[in-house]
Amino acid sequence: MFRFLTAGESHGKGLTVIVEGVPAGLRLTEEYIARDMARRQVGYGRGGRMQIERDHAEILSGVRHGLTMGSPIAMWIENRDWSTGKGPDGVPWIDEMSIEPSDVEFEPITALRPGHADTPGAAKYGQTDARNILERSSARESAARVAAGSVARRFLEEFGVEVHGHVTNIGGVHAKPSHAIDWAALEQPPYHRERPDGSRMAAVRCADPDAAARMIQAIDAAREAGDSVGGIIEVIATGAPIGLGTHIQWDRKLTTRLAAAVMSMNAVKAVEFGAGFAQADLRGSKVHDVIKPIQDWERSPDGGWLRPWPRRTNNSGGLEGGMTTGEPLVVRAMVKPIATLMNGLETVDLATGEFVTKAHFERSDITFVPTCAVIGEAMVAAVLADAMLEKFGGDHIEETIRNWRAYMAGLGPQGE
Ligand SMILES: Cc1cc2nc3c(=O)[nH]c(=O)nc-3n(C[C@H](O)[C@H](O)[C@H](O)COP(=O)(O)O)c2cc1C
Repeated sequence: MFRFLTAGESHGKGLTVIVEGVPAGLRLTEEYIARDMARRQVGYGRGGRMQIERDHAEILSGVRHGLTMGSPIAMWIENRDWSTGKGPDGVPWIDEMSIEPSDVEFEPITALRPGHADTPGAAKYGQTDARNILERSSARESAARVAAGSVARRFLEEFGVEVHGHVTNIGGVHAKPSHAIDWAALEQPPYHRERPDGSRMAAVRCADPDAAARMIQAIDAAREAGDSVGGIIEVIATGAPIGLGTHIQWDRKLTTRLAAAVMSMNAVKAVEFGAGFAQADLRGSKVHDVIKPIQDWERSPDGGWLRPWPRRTNNSGGLEGGMTTGEPLVVRAMVKPIATLMNGLETVDLATGEFVTKAHFERSDITFVPTCAVIGEAMVAAVLADAMLEKFGGDHIEETIRNWRAYMAGLGPQGE
């Protein structure tokens, strides 16, 4: 079983993540994880926070001499803002977020932000300061998810499974559908913009350059209006073998687990697979993915089947009956527009329930859709790693690989 737990507040000292279930003997370095951590930090429309942080996941346990030991992998990500920055009330974060009781006076947050966790959180946890809610509901936590997802990605690489994310829509601008995305190119110019310091930032992680340019305009227009925009991300995983997950029980279906993992991302309000909601308007004959006959199957180098039971189309998004079909897994998520608006919405005060003209504002993004593509990769990778371990087990990576190879070699027509 691959699982992880995170801890940490947005402006606290840092984030902790504990990843469990990774077999022994897997090559893993901080340098490898650093690539994904950096990818999470870029994206047009992010606010000032990303200029402050230089996210680095320090491995504290579970790895020795570059190889996992099978024990829990604990990682620590420092929040630079904690030691250097100040809250919107001018109080240094070190004092505002002090673990020990503190005499420093700070302003509680009471102008509740509609759309954020402030209102149900403060009501439920009996809080007089919404900061005690927003610090944990902030997506700063997603840095820890990306570190865990990177470990999952490293594990999946051993089986030729790749997980990539991109943006298909921001602020009503839709990218042209693309069937062959050059993932390496997405990390390079012209998909990147120069930062003032000369470093490059992924603009909007969209594979359609025309749409990307219009997405940037939509983000700029929202910024000028003191508003925010949402969008849609798509995560595509290739190389997963047929038969991960099961049809046997509702909570063990891979579809259930993927949907839950992707829905758990902050601000995601809808998830679809493959042709998704559009299937509702089509007839069955136009939806279901016809299976290719054996003459069209490809052999693997060892003489087995590379991808047995392939399909002519992939409207299912690589999932049937809660199991992988062996076709690319295609998961899409709708990300709502940011709740913290420069021109705050009308709201009420947490202490009095009285009308307030503007909800609380503190440094915020205009959009975070490009970042969600990277967080989505992490969540999908984590679920796939878990499903691979469920199917193939193994306390050492070589054992997992042996089990996977044996399974793949045994796949094919059942009469063989
Ligand atoms: C990468 C990322 C960055 C985010 N940044 C902000 C932000 O700057 N301001 C904000 O109000 N919400 C932001 N959010 C969304 C909130 O975390 C989220 O809306 C809030 O926790 C309420 O949860 P819900 O939208 O899932 O219901 C961000 C989400 C993600 C995934």
